[in-house]
Formats: sequence, structure tokens, C-alpha cells
Amino acid sequence: MTLQAVAKRYDQARQTLTGVDLTVNAGEFVALVGPSGCGKSTLLRMVAGLESVTGGEIRIGEQRINELTPGERDIAMVFQDYALYPHKTVFENIAFGLRVRGAAKDDIKRRVHEVAAQLQITEFLSRKPAALSGGQRQRVAIGRALARHARLFLFDEPLSNLDVKLRNEMRVEIKKLHQQFGITTLYVTHDQIEAMTLADRIAVMSDGKVEQYGTPDEVYNQPATTFVASFIGSPEMNLLTLPLQSRAGIRGVLLGDVFLPLPAEFSAFKGDDVVVGLRPEAVLPAQDATNATTARLLLIEPLGAETIVTLDVQGQQLTARWAAERSLSEVTHLPITVDNKKLHWFNPKTRVNLAVHFSNPAGAQA
Ligand SMILES: Nc1ncnc2c1ncn2[C@@H]1O[C@H](COP(=O)(O)OP(=O)(O)OP(=O)(O)O)[C@@H](O)[C@H]1O
Ligand SMILES: [Mg+2]
Repeated sequence: MTLQAVAKRYDQARQTLTGVDLTVNAGEFVALVGPSGCGKSTLLRMVAGLESVTGGEIRIGEQRINELTPGERDIAMVFQDYALYPHKTVFENIAFGLRVRGAAKDDIKRRVHEVAAQLQITEFLSRKPAALSGGQRQRVAIGRALARHARLFLFDEPLSNLDVKLRNEMRVEIKKLHQQFGITTLYVTHDQIEAMTLADRIAVMSDGKVEQYGTPDEVYNQPATTFVASFIGSPEMNLLTLPLQSRAGIRGVLLGDVFLPLPAEFSAFKGDDVVVGLRPEAVLPAQDATNATTARLLLIEPLGAETIVTLDVQGQQLTARWAAERSLSEVTHLPITVDNKKLHWFNPKTRVNLAVHFSNPAGAQA
């Protein structure tokens, strides 16, 4: 599927989607992530044919689908609000798509029971949606989409109402189903763990556009902008705006007493300040005094296997993620250092990664 400059205007005052370009390969699983209101559901509904496309083009294979009705598109969608038929039983809800396509009675029965078993909802097949919990309704909605083998699956936050245990089970179930059938999937989620674990590629959206489209590894390790850097990863990446200074002819920034050299490939960067990004795992307890600085311990959050530590380094607040074996209970100050290989550098004006600037000479001038 290809989205080319896809735009949406619900009304004259505001453009909800400003031109989305996205290529989803056959069989690929793509996650759309981004803050509330950035246009994820709108984009999905446009692909499904439930919202008009006010600009650009959507193609599946060679076929332009902008003008096709939802029925003609052969797409199965799981909605954010489930959209189940309230007067039909769970069985009939799941069977609906098969019935309208004229499947044989025995096939329908077999398929509904197959799907219900996979989703652990067999015992509810004769109930109506009103007599189900939110999580059970969500599974029925997923079942309705899975029952028929559509050429494209669209999921809008399908697991958001489930408790953690069920969500993890359903995530594994969705991944298995995708591996088994290889149906091209667009999956909207707030949950970056879901996006990172399920998706082949992730589109990080902000304010009606795609900020970055890449593999989970790329969006995590090479974030294109500070927005992507702070949106992907939990706890968030530390982003510090610091003045560039020279030490023995090398430009860099000072974090407390630790000098962080600007990588040589960015030496052409002009600017008094730079934004340096450190993931919590790049902030380390120092083994000795070389290249270390003293940090004040502000907060300790034990998570079992690891501990999230909030530190203050001469007025800069930093979050770190450390193995839990360290006992910090008696500690108020401690020496820390930084893994220089794990730093990210951004232009403070454009908020764009310097690696992107310098791979694109036109952008470097911006
Ligand atoms: N029918 C509509 N008419 C006018 N504006 C709309 C309509 N539907 C959505 N919007 C607006 O479009 C923007 C994007 O909405 P959308 O539902 O796509 O966001 P989202 O990314 O799915 O958010 P969430 O994560 O909260 O579900 C929002 O500002 C919303 O208020
Ligand atoms: Mg939504």
C-alpha cells in the first residue's frame, strides 16, 4: 500500500493531516504512533474508506482506492470504540463479515469457533455485547476482523482497554496471527512497547504529519528529531541544551565536569548551542574519577530488575536506568559518567538530528 501526500481537512479552519507519505510493503506490519489528536485514527479511517480523502492518493498495489466504497476495498478494521452490533450475539458479530460475503453455514460456524478459541471468548458466543466487559468487547471486535482473511488489516488501539496480562497475551496472539497469515497491517497504538515489539516499521506522527518512518531500531537509535527522540523510549531521552565550547581545539559541551566532544562529522555545525540527547542507559555510575562528575541523587524508583534514578548535575536534571543490584539507600551524591558512543546531537533551532542535517547538505543550512 502506498500513501502519497495524503491530506485531510475536516473544515476550512484547520488541516488535520498535512501530507502523509507512507509505503507499506505487502505482508508488512506498520505501527502508527503519536500523541492524542495527531491524526492516527483519521488516517486509518481514510484508508478504510470511512472518511473522504481531501488530498493525495492511496493505492493498494496498482489500484487507486480513494473513490472505492469501504466494501470494495476488502479491508478489515478494528475500531478504537469497537463498533459492535449491539443487538447481535457475539457469534453473529464475528460471523457478520463472512455472511455478507455469502460464506457457507458450516464454514462460518467453523471459522467463528476457531477465532473465538484463539481469542478466549468461546464462552461468550451467545451473549450480546452489552453483557461483556470492555476487554471482552475488544476481543470480539478483533475476532470480527480476523474471521475473514481481508487483504489489509487496520487496528486502532485494539488493546488499550485490556489489563496488562491480557494485553501481553493478545499482543503475542496478534503477532502469531500476523506471522501465520502475513496480512499487511496498519496498527495504531499509544503504547510504544506494542509498536516496538509488533512492527516491522514504525511511523512516528506529530501534528498531522509523519516525523520519522523507520524500523524500531532506527527510530530508537537514530531519532530524526527531538520529538521522535523523546516520544520513543521510556523513560524519555534526556535532552539538554548546552553551549558549545572549545577544549584543546575540540568543540563540545560540558555536563558538570564531563566534557562531551561533538563528533568530528558534525564539526561544520555552526551555532552557539547544541542539544545533546542521552538515553537513561547512557548515564552511568562512574568506576573512577576520570571523566566523571558528581551528581546529586534526587529520586530513586525501584522497578525490580532495574532502578530509575533522577539526578541533578550542576542544575541539569538527568534520568538514569541502572541495574538494581546497586544499593543507593544511603547515597546522596555519587560520581557519574556518560557513554560517549550513545550520544545524540540535535540542532536547537530546527530540532533535527545533526546526522540528518549532514546527510542532507541542503538541510545543514537550515
Ligand atoms: N469528524 C471530525 N470533524 C472535525 N474534526 C475532527 C473530526 N474527527 C477528528 N477530528 C480532529 O482531527 C484531529 C485528529 O483526530 P484523530 O481522531 O485522528 O486523532 P488520534 O491521533 O487518533 O488521537 P487519539 O490518540 O486520541 O485517538 C483532532 O484534532 C480531532 O479533534
Ligand atoms: Mg484515535
